[in-house]
Amino acid sequence: MTKALDTSHLWMPFTANRQFKEKPRLMVSAAGMYYTTDDGRKILDGTAGLWCVNAGHCHPKIVEAVQKQVAVMDFAPTFQMGHPKAFEAAAALAEIAPDGMNRVFFCNDGSEGVDTALKIALAYHRARGNAGRTRLVGRERAYHGVGFGGIAVGGIAANRKQFGPGLAATDHIRHPLNLEKNAYSRGLPVNGAEMADELEQRLLALHDPSSVAAVILEPLQGSTGVIVPPAGYLEKIRAICDRHGILLIFDEVITAFGRLGTAFGADYFKVKPDMIVCAKGLTNATVPMGAVIVKQAIHDTLMEAAPADSIEFFHGYTYSGHPVAAAAAIATLEVYKEEQLFERAAAISPYFEDAAHSLKGLPLVKDIRNLGLVCGIELEGISGKPGARAYDLFNQAFWDKGLLIRTTADVVALSPPLIINKAQIDQMFSSIADLLKSIK
Ligand SMILES: Cc1ncc(COP(=O)(O)O)c(C=O)c1O
Repeated sequence: MTKALDTSHLWMPFTANRQFKEKPRLMVSAAGMYYTTDDGRKILDGTAGLWCVNAGHCHPKIVEAVQKQVAVMDFAPTFQMGHPKAFEAAAALAEIAPDGMNRVFFCNDGSEGVDTALKIALAYHRARGNAGRTRLVGRERAYHGVGFGGIAVGGIAANRKQFGPGLAATDHIRHPLNLEKNAYSRGLPVNGAEMADELEQRLLALHDPSSVAAVILEPLQGSTGVIVPPAGYLEKIRAICDRHGILLIFDEVITAFGRLGTAFGADYFKVKPDMIVCAKGLTNATVPMGAVIVKQAIHDTLMEAAPADSIEFFHGYTYSGHPVAAAAAIATLEVYKEEQLFERAAAISPYFEDAAHSLKGLPLVKDIRNLGLVCGIELEGISGKPGARAYDLFNQAFWDKGLLIRTTADVVALSPPLIINKAQIDQMFSSIADLLKSIK
């Protein structure tokens, strides 16, 4: 008999540790669309891990690239040194980024990417003689990771309240979710573009535009329950930022790499930000890596503002452009191209949308919203126990239906790998339907 696993030492992230450890949900291997659990059950991955395994698990080409690289060169510094793979990975990312967004700063994850982008924004304005532009604007219900910068512009109370005042000069616009007007929208909600106007009418009026460095937004808010922007909303935000010389940062940690059927959310919405933060799907999550993709003009401003032989930007991580991560990123971007996974996601999205909306009318369903290969199913909560309803469903899906879903408050969020097929989509939604019908 195998020795029982000692779960006591690991302090798990974003987890109800004591509850988890009473009955651990453990995965031991993965391939394609499935995990295998420690008791040998196959679990259909309805969430691409954590919105990150876009090409499916253990893709042979990516696995091979990682294995090869780790044996050739495990690590090389990128401070005042370099190695070809980091440059190649940056070039490959620039190639699929929107036009003119072709300078890449590597980090290790989404949180570091967000902090990096915020710092680039501050440094950029300073380099242009606008050192007073220090205010950073985010949005309520935004998730920008867990760094101090990210939680400051983020809009999730639970992620902020344990940690003191954080960054002072931040503010937030409201999120555009509106169930009264937009429940059961398919794709972009038609109402609510005017929610963008409060950036100008309320926040810029209050703080003065000349104090604002950047606005950061997830084009589609994922982690807090799939909030799809109303048609025209992002265009308005872009126009307001342009009017006032404010940089627009898209946090595409979830929406990049095919989630919406395009390389980036910026492509889907046809709105070009000044910087894109990405991570997760960049390496298909095999090795941690994040990146900030920056408009060349912003990069060049920082280069030109500093003496030629000086460090232009005092920022970086030991593992920025780590060789193994860089090899994984190069292989992953090739896989997306060779297998046309973004196009595949776009092609199967209408089927996914129909399957998602087939849950309308089932017990406790309050809203269904979707875009690309993302959908949120909002449930009626249990009075006095926020999140408990969806957590029960998550547990039942895992134990009884062999399905991994993600929940946030009482919203079920689905974001499968882009390789999902129609039968697997049917399995996912019919399992959820069965569970909803059986709720007493
Ligand atoms: C939009 C967004 N930004 C940032 C992050 C943080 O990324 P990481 O967990 O890699 O630090 C996430 C993670 O889900 C995210 O969804």
